[in-house]
Amino acid sequence: MSGKFTIDGVTVPFETGQSIMDAALAAKIYIPHLCHNPEFHPHGSCRLCCVNADGRTVAACTTPAAEGIQVENETHEITTQRRLLLKLLFVEGNHVCPACEKSGACQLQAVAYHCGMLAPEFVHFYPKRAVDASHPETIIDFNRCILCELCVRASREFDHKSVFNIGGRGIQAHLMINSPSGKLGDSAFSARDKAARVCPVGAILPKHRGYNIPIGKRLYDQESISQVGDVASHLEHDDDR
Ligand code: SF4
Ligand code: FES
Repeated sequence: MSGKFTIDGVTVPFETGQSIMDAALAAKIYIPHLCHNPEFHPHGSCRLCCVNADGRTVAACTTPAAEGIQVENETHEITTQRRLLLKLLFVEGNHVCPACEKSGACQLQAVAYHCGMLAPEFVHFYPKRAVDASHPETIIDFNRCILCELCVRASREFDHKSVFNIGGRGIQAHLMINSPSGKLGDSAFSARDKAARVCPVGAILPKHRGYNIPIGKRLYDQESISQVGDVASHLEHDDDR
């Protein structure tokens, strides 16, 4: 069965079973998101995709599209809320964009620009987080992890390895490696795993190359993330950075 609903007044078709996010992506309407990737089960954790559907605030990635609903996506109020969420993400980790290898190809940075976040508002936590360089081909910089759990889902659902997990709660939540030493190099992880190519930020990076494309000429340097279309597919081709 199929139907129609609207996003910011634009009519969007959907098939039964599609979420608001699925239908929006198919219609090339950008709803800001970080923890969503169409290849994996929706997770609904970053809350960046929250929209107003017939007066209710819902996560677009986990809410089914329904006949005739009126969805608001890019209102001043929603963008202000998203900017707030983004500011909180920035202060919880150590995101030093000008010195990050992923700058210009990072979804967090690109969504922040899209939502008009130009300056910090809150005091940074500057948490002490490690870098795991124990794997011969891949490095993990926990400073940049936003706990989207995409690597967790990719490793579990696609690679069938469950290399990653999230431990702790609240501000103590952190990414964990499933290995005897807790190090990536001691785990079943391979640089050819799906989990190696899903991180939306610069937390999981290949070794032995960097800054292949000069900063200023990367994916989101050229185009706003709202124009890029299938954001997730660009992760497969990490040469965008
Ligand atoms: Fe998400 Fe990357 Fe952190 Fe994994 S390492 S949880 S993909 S931000
Ligand atoms: Fe929907 Fe993260 S993209 S909650």
